[in-house]
Amino acid sequence: MIDLRSDTVTRPSEAMRAAMARAEVGDDVYGEDPTVRQLEERVAATLGHEAALFTPTGSMANVLAVALVVAPGQEVLCEARAHIARAELGAHGAVSGLTMRTWSHPRGQVDLPAIEDLFAPDLGPFFVRTAAISVENTHNFAGGAVLPLADLKVLRAFADAQGAAIHLDGARIWNAHVATGVAFEEYGAVADVVGVCLSKGLGAPVGSLLVGPADLVTEARVRRKRLGGGMRQVGVLAAAGLHALDHHIERLADDHAHARLLADACGVDPATVDTNIVAFDRPDAVAFVAAAREAGVLVGAVGARTVRLVTHLDISRADADAAAKVLAAI
Ligand SMILES: Cc1ncc(COP(=O)(O)O)c(C=O)c1O
Repeated sequence: MIDLRSDTVTRPSEAMRAAMARAEVGDDVYGEDPTVRQLEERVAATLGHEAALFTPTGSMANVLAVALVVAPGQEVLCEARAHIARAELGAHGAVSGLTMRTWSHPRGQVDLPAIEDLFAPDLGPFFVRTAAISVENTHNFAGGAVLPLADLKVLRAFADAQGAAIHLDGARIWNAHVATGVAFEEYGAVADVVGVCLSKGLGAPVGSLLVGPADLVTEARVRRKRLGGGMRQVGVLAAAGLHALDHHIERLADDHAHARLLADACGVDPATVDTNIVAFDRPDAVAFVAAAREAGVLVGAVGARTVRLVTHLDISRADADAAAKVLAAI
C-alpha cells in the first residue's frame, strides 16, 4: 500500500529511534528534562519568540494558544476550513468557552475586507468582542496553500490597530518556509502565539509546541497540566523532534515535488500546489478513494466531494510515480 492519507502516517526512522534511545531525560513536570528544554528553547528561538511549551498534540497547542489570547465569552475569527474550526472537535468552545466566526476563501487565505466586516471591537454589553484572528500556514484543508507574508503583515497591522491578537496555526510552517524561503522569524513576527507540529511533515511520532511570550507560556504550562498534558520523562519524544529539525526540514522540497507530480496525474494544475497537499473536488470522492484503495493507493476524502493526497517522508520518488499511474487511471 502507498499511503497518501496524511503526513502523520510516517514511522520514525532508525536514526530517529537511535536519537530517542540516547536522549537525556528527567521529570518534565518538575522542569527537569534537559532534552525537552533544549527543544523548547530551540523552537522559540527559531520563531523569534521568548518561550515555547512542548505539548502532546497540535490540537492541544492550538487550544492552549488561542485561549491565552481569547477569554471565555470572547471570539476568534478564522477561515471556515481552519483546523481549529473543523477538526479540533469543538474544543475551543467546549473547553475554553470562546466562540468563533469564519470567513471563507477557496485557498484558505487572509481576506482582509471580510475580516474587517466580521471584526467586532469591544462594544460593552452588545456584541461578542473579537479578541483574536487565527490563520493557518500552510492551510491543510485548502490543499497545503501557503499564506503570503505580505498578507500576514497587512493583517498584523490591522490587528495592532484594533488591539487584537493573532494566532498562527503553524502545524506545517516548515513547509511554508521551504516553499517560499521566508525565514521562520518573519512568520513568527506576525503572530502573538503560534502552534507548530513535529509529527506531520517532519516525521516525529509525537509532539507539538506552543510558542509565544514568556509570561503567556508560563500560564500555558499550568493550563497544560490542568488538561492532563503534563508529561514526565518525555525527552525521548523531544529527541525525536530535535532530530527532525536537524534532518527533515530541507527535504520537504522532495515532498512538494512529489505532490506536484501527483497533482498532474489527477488533472490538477501543479502550479496551484504550493506544498505537500493536493486537494481536488470530485462528485464521486468516496468512490474514488475506494477505487484507489483497491489499486493499492490510500488517499482520503475530506468532505463529500473533496479528495486529499498528502506526500511525506515515507513516500519515495518511485512510490510517487507508482501512485501517479494508479490515480491517473482512475
Ligand atoms: C493545520 C493543523 N493544525 C493542527 C493539527 C492538529 O495536530 P494533532 O493531530 O497533533 O492534534 C493538524 C493535524 O492534522 C493540522 O493539520
